[in-house]
Amino acid sequence: MGGGGERVGIVVISYGSRAAAVIDALSRSENYEVRLYVADKQRNPYNVEHAEKHVVIPDLDVEKICDFIEANKNAIDFGICCPEKPIIAGVRDIVERKTEVAMICPTKRYAIEGSKASQRYLIEECCAEANPRFKVFHRTEYKSVGEARDAVWRFLDEIGNEVAVKPDKPAAGKGVGVWGDHFRSREQLFDHFRSIFESGSDVLIEERLEGEESSFQAFCDGKRVVALPDTRDYKRAFDSDIGPNTGGMGSYKAQEDWLPFLNESDREEEERLVQRIFKELRGSGENDGLRGIPFYVAFMHTGEGAKILEINSRPGDPEIQNVLPVLKNDFVDVCFRMIEGTLERIECVKRATVVTYAVPMDYGDYRVTYSGDRRVDLSGAYALKENYGDNLRIYPGSMELREDGATYALGSRTVCTVGIGETIEEAREISQDGIRHINGALWNRWDIGASHYIERSIRKMKELRG
Ligand code: AMP
Ligand code: GLY
Repeated sequence: MGGGGERVGIVVISYGSRAAAVIDALSRSENYEVRLYVADKQRNPYNVEHAEKHVVIPDLDVEKICDFIEANKNAIDFGICCPEKPIIAGVRDIVERKTEVAMICPTKRYAIEGSKASQRYLIEECCAEANPRFKVFHRTEYKSVGEARDAVWRFLDEIGNEVAVKPDKPAAGKGVGVWGDHFRSREQLFDHFRSIFESGSDVLIEERLEGEESSFQAFCDGKRVVALPDTRDYKRAFDSDIGPNTGGMGSYKAQEDWLPFLNESDREEEERLVQRIFKELRGSGENDGLRGIPFYVAFMHTGEGAKILEINSRPGDPEIQNVLPVLKNDFVDVCFRMIEGTLERIECVKRATVVTYAVPMDYGDYRVTYSGDRRVDLSGAYALKENYGDNLRIYPGSMELREDGATYALGSRTVCTVGIGETIEEAREISQDGIRHINGALWNRWDIGASHYIERSIRKMKELRG
């Protein structure tokens, strides 16, 4: 493993295929001989194979993660945290305080993903034009559900019924309800509101935005943010964007840094907005609390410019899988630079990438229940590497290697395939060929990166811009 230079030990906190992509990028370092220490949600077969030490921490509890790092700290140079839960729980603060191992992720204070309401207030301070009209319904302000209902009605009288209703707390993209998609009457809307409210979270209601989405990600060293190419995530379960929201069924990236339905100036607008948020949080000097990927921003491009749907404090899943495989820089160097505060330009190979997720039968309401075999055999997909070489990557996610030596699908997104090509179409064919060669009871969307889908986005943007 690694390129045979100086030896480095790296902790990866893992959840999903995203971490396999991070592990792949680190393992390919040409400048370092990489030893990986993985704290994982389960025995992910890819991670087990690549790790020097692998530990399963099913709840990703930060104290247990910290104990693992403490026990190996003499061999560890730094850590990187992929999932949001430990970041929001303050894994960086706790690990750095107790073990002095530097962590790549924001501190608890700057894990702004933890509250959608705080994000809206922050955006209001520094780039209000990127906010939709919104209102936060704080649980403490209402003595009863009836009182909250009256307040919701009054707000709808003001801005109209066409709104999105979302929990303040992160719900992996799945807690959001949108008028016209998830409810068509105020009663249904309020049922959704109430289910969030009664689960103990504050609720946001915001104007429903009409437009096309993009995902913006950037590395940050506390002094500067360095943007990565834009990607497009497919949140809905089924082809043509039908069905419930999921963690993301796949994503694509064009050769350029922007998406086919946008142009260079849209991309510059995204960067400008993110820079303003960064400066607001950073203050006048530097702020290494913002290390890692503190700004993974979901944008909605509307007829009135770019609006922010949400800000996450970590790499996107599947979006980072579109980017890491085409990173030109040595990823271990990039990590050291983020820690040292010497981050510079990031370069990617000018290639298109398509990520397709295969998921279990009972994921995303595809089947109400599935009681059959959950074994998944990836060997046929891996064999395709003979044809495609590094232009096909296979990243197991919610999969488990068991005692019998076989691998099994758990409940969430099972495995993704990344195709890399000169065009989105070529990348898509490779990604889908990988999917077709997986042996197991899984399903997937077939329209990730499809030209008809992209053309629809181009048409829609043209219409919105008049
Ligand atoms: P979020 O978790 O906030 O990114 O929301 C998940 C998905 O819900 C987004 O990708 C959008 O498709 C949709 N969504 C969220 N907020 C809005 C909004 N204000 N208007 C329209 N759609 C939205
Ligand atoms: N792609 C959605 C997420 O990572 O939250």
